[in-house]
Amino acid sequence: MTPARRSFTASLRRVLPYARSVIPRLGFGLAAAVCAALLGLAIPQALRWIVNDTLTGGGERRLWLGVAVVAALGIGEAALIVTRRRTLVGPGTRLESDLRVLLFSHLSDLPLSVHGRYSGGQLLSRTISDVRRFRRWLIFGLSQTCVNAITIVAGVVLILWIDWVLGLVYLVGSVPALALSFRARGRYAVLSRRAQDQAGDLAATVEEAVHGIRVLKAFGRERDALDGFTERAGALRRTELGKAGQRAVMTFAVTGVPDILLAALLFAGLHEISTGDLTVGGLLAIFTLTAVMGGPLERLSEQFAVSMEAKTALDRFLELLDHRRGIADPAQPRPVPDGRGQVVFDRVSFSYDGTQPLLRDVDLVIEPGETLALVGLTGSGKSAIGQLIPRFWEASAGAVRIDGVDVRELRRHDLRRLVAVAFEEPVLFSASVRANVTLGAPEATDEELWEALEIAHADFVRELPDGLDTRIGEEGMSLSGGQRQRLSLARAILCRPRVLVLDDPLSALDVHTEAAVSRRLRTRLAGTTTLLIAGRLSSIALADRVAVLHGGRIVATGTHDDLAAGSAVYRSIVYGEPHAAARPAPTVVGT
Ligand SMILES: Nc1ncnc2c1ncn2[C@@H]1O[C@H](COP(=O)(O)OP(=O)(O)OP(=O)(O)O)[C@@H](O)[C@H]1O
Ligand SMILES: [Mg+2]
Repeated sequence: MTPARRSFTASLRRVLPYARSVIPRLGFGLAAAVCAALLGLAIPQALRWIVNDTLTGGGERRLWLGVAVVAALGIGEAALIVTRRRTLVGPGTRLESDLRVLLFSHLSDLPLSVHGRYSGGQLLSRTISDVRRFRRWLIFGLSQTCVNAITIVAGVVLILWIDWVLGLVYLVGSVPALALSFRARGRYAVLSRRAQDQAGDLAATVEEAVHGIRVLKAFGRERDALDGFTERAGALRRTELGKAGQRAVMTFAVTGVPDILLAALLFAGLHEISTGDLTVGGLLAIFTLTAVMGGPLERLSEQFAVSMEAKTALDRFLELLDHRRGIADPAQPRPVPDGRGQVVFDRVSFSYDGTQPLLRDVDLVIEPGETLALVGLTGSGKSAIGQLIPRFWEASAGAVRIDGVDVRELRRHDLRRLVAVAFEEPVLFSASVRANVTLGAPEATDEELWEALEIAHADFVRELPDGLDTRIGEEGMSLSGGQRQRLSLARAILCRPRVLVLDDPLSALDVHTEAAVSRRLRTRLAGTTTLLIAGRLSSIALADRVAVLHGGRIVATGTHDDLAAGSAVYRSIVYGEPHAAARPAPTVVGT
């Protein structure tokens, strides 16, 4: 069932397992809230008793006693309200943070295909605002709703008990109010989901504009970004206005209608007094009761709205949680095999979206310690081959094996220790250089760290103001593209993996630096099996062997010299020579 279709209670049941530890305190807080409400309702009863007693000449001592009882009830109510707050805040905030951590860890386990479906802004608004909204409702909204509902039901019962005629008048008069607010509630629910989705889109617009600020500036498109933002902000505003309209209807239903009801109650009450069926104290108690119920009635409509928003928030949260985690650990994982990192692609087929085949029957062996360069036209699926080794994606047929073991039979944790990847687009975090480079090897010593930096030709770190402790801005924006690539390369090297996948991580370097880095990689990482996806001859020439990917298959392998002499496809890819088979890429393999 999709979360939107699920009832609120069903959604709540879904988060129950995570809320188990806070339920006892939640229950206690709820009980305190209900007791406080009941004490509040007892006050009109005491008033009724005092007034009737005084009118019938009960004496000064009994009057004082009555006043003391009312005061005691008031103090009791206040104490219980404080207790409720104190018991609920702790567990509520703990649950909020638990849910956030849960979602965050789930997000990092989701397959890349699911990540592609949500914008950063949506993920952000769901992890932050939606979780907070749900927590607020759980702590305050839920107890308030219960208390108010109980206050109203108990109030009606008391009125019926004091005088059933007035009780009936009150009940019958409430029917239109209920009908009106029920209808408004349904409309509000729809608008509420829309508003929360639009708020997520708005956050996405900000996120993308900030992310792409350089591009926007470069093309003078800041104005367009602003227009897009204004439009989305306007759409959100219109939805919020619609919500306010429905909220007004709900408020009118629960405050306006009962006010009209008061006149009817007064009329009927005076009649009941004249016939002797009701005392003056009784009428006073009924009016005090309606006053006591007035607040809860008004708040109840507000809380309906808040509950709707909490349901939407919870559904948006659960929608993400309902996505199945990506690649799971095998039920019976194989131990990490001994070996020096032989990688075998055995008739591997692959498609990103499950329909358009990108790779078909790829056979490729990278011998232990070998550096194999993979060349192919842009979009031919080189990155796909690189990402199949650490199992970022799943092959649709065939198998990828490391030292004889299918990567699907290894624990993800073990696999990630065997294979390290450096991407063309380096991702750095706003943290120190050290934290960024030691991401995959937190226990590395400074000596090892410097060695990795040196191999990656990233000695520029020495010149940074605080060396290894220099904080690099968000996504390493304070560094040049080539500097970022080299840090990301050092990060992969530092893991000392058995298999290193280098997905064009030197593309931003000049030819000389690239050749120097490649040379160092070859000599210093002689024992590491390396798949080097590279476009430039200077890097390719340094590899032990080269494999050519074309039309979804490996069409040739050999040394650079062999291929340059014998493969027209190879020549056309690396030298740009015209060749019929290598015209801009038929990446989709025909059937
Ligand atoms: N996440 C994805 N979902 C769907 N299709 C994708 C995805 N990533 C890439 N593709 C498509 O798959 C094809 C191969 O992409 P891939 O990144 O493997 O090529 P590549 O050989 O590495 O290209 P380049 O040299 O430009 O880096 C491209 O046509 C691309 O549009
Ligand atoms: Mg690529």
